Amino acid sequence: MNPAGGGAPAAPTKTGPHRHPPRGGAPERRSTGFYRDSPLVLAQRELARVAALIERLLDEPDVTLPGEPASAPTGAHHEALRELVPRWHFAMLNDLSRNSLFEEAIKHAVRRGGHVLDIGSGSALLAMIAARYGADLVTSCEIVRPIAQAAARIVADNGLADAITVVNKSSDQLVVGGELPERADLIVTEIVDCGLVGEGIPPSLRHARAHLLKPGGTIIPKGARVLAAPVDSAYLWQLNRVGYACGFDVSHFNEFASRRYFPILLHAWPYRLLTTPVEVLSFDFAKDPLAPGNKVVEVPIEESGTCHGIAFWFELFLDDKRVLTNEPNNRTGHWDQAFQCLPKPLAVRAGTTVQLSVAHFDYLIYFTPLARGQQ
Ligand SMILES: C[S@@+](CC[C@H](N)C(=O)[O-])C[C@H]1O[C@@H](n2cnc3c(N)ncnc32)[C@H](O)[C@@H]1O
Repeated sequence: MNPAGGGAPAAPTKTGPHRHPPRGGAPERRSTGFYRDSPLVLAQRELARVAALIERLLDEPDVTLPGEPASAPTGAHHEALRELVPRWHFAMLNDLSRNSLFEEAIKHAVRRGGHVLDIGSGSALLAMIAARYGADLVTSCEIVRPIAQAAARIVADNGLADAITVVNKSSDQLVVGGELPERADLIVTEIVDCGLVGEGIPPSLRHARAHLLKPGGTIIPKGARVLAAPVDSAYLWQLNRVGYACGFDVSHFNEFASRRYFPILLHAWPYRLLTTPVEVLSFDFAKDPLAPGNKVVEVPIEESGTCHGIAFWFELFLDDKRVLTNEPNNRTGHWDQAFQCLPKPLAVRAGTTVQLSVAHFDYLIYFTPLARGQQ
């Protein structure tokens, strides 16, 4: 547990990794009714509208900006592409332990002559690994059109166009007998954000398991669990809340604060975990219903302090042997930890227990501390 700075800290001046945009799913994908009609849903709709506009702009000829050489890859077309394709793709593709654990798991599971479905192509990395280890037929689907186009190009550049078909569709739009010649023997996917579910792995696998996988087929990853701890850190709180600036009350700005979790690197800030991390959720992707739910977890408080929010992370079980995690001590992986600010900081006392309500939706995990444990 790291020492937290006492009292309210000065405004953070870091411009570190906390500014990284969340690994959110495609903007048109919406959370469940929990946020229906909330400002967040309205914002999501606006994002979907902007994404559709960008898609349209991509079909128009590129524009050369004044003073720019015609060959410069910085025109409006390229800007639109950059808006559609998050920067984390680069860090993800350079995450060597992620790549090699997926490669080992796929090598172990793929069978010669089998059909593999890769959900969320990205660069088609997982599809190419499956082809490398003997899959006869690989179907790789990708929602974002420019990414799907890049994946098809990369597959061709690597001489694998005969084995891999890239489809520019969301997995839940695929049809057996249409884009898929048959159900898959193996599904591989890495649609996982810092908070596990933000890219929609539960609904995507729920659908794929029911409609696209052969009975008894394999899914990589096979499951996951989520660990969480209450955190005392006024610094993390100030990443999402404001009071005064230069003596002015600017607290009205808090209407823009995120109610959802967002990515942070815990080690970049002073903080204290008020408990040993506890398991709050676990998923067996082959068997569990993967439906939204709610549970209450008892969290024994080990240190007195102020709980500003809940930090959490995942363990992703690719198979029985291989585990990927974004736990705070993993400094080499590309995933940050997830952090959800509480609506109000909560004083807690060592030796008491906080009951934490853990609601999980298709694209969101949301924590609410219940009454006990307060001073
Ligand atoms: C985190 S990237 C992983 C890319 C690649 N599989 C890898 O491991 O390097 C996930 C990609 O999946 C796409 N995606 C997310 N959910 C999808 C779904 N249900 N169907 C198709 N594509 C999806 C996203 O647009 C993104 O490009």
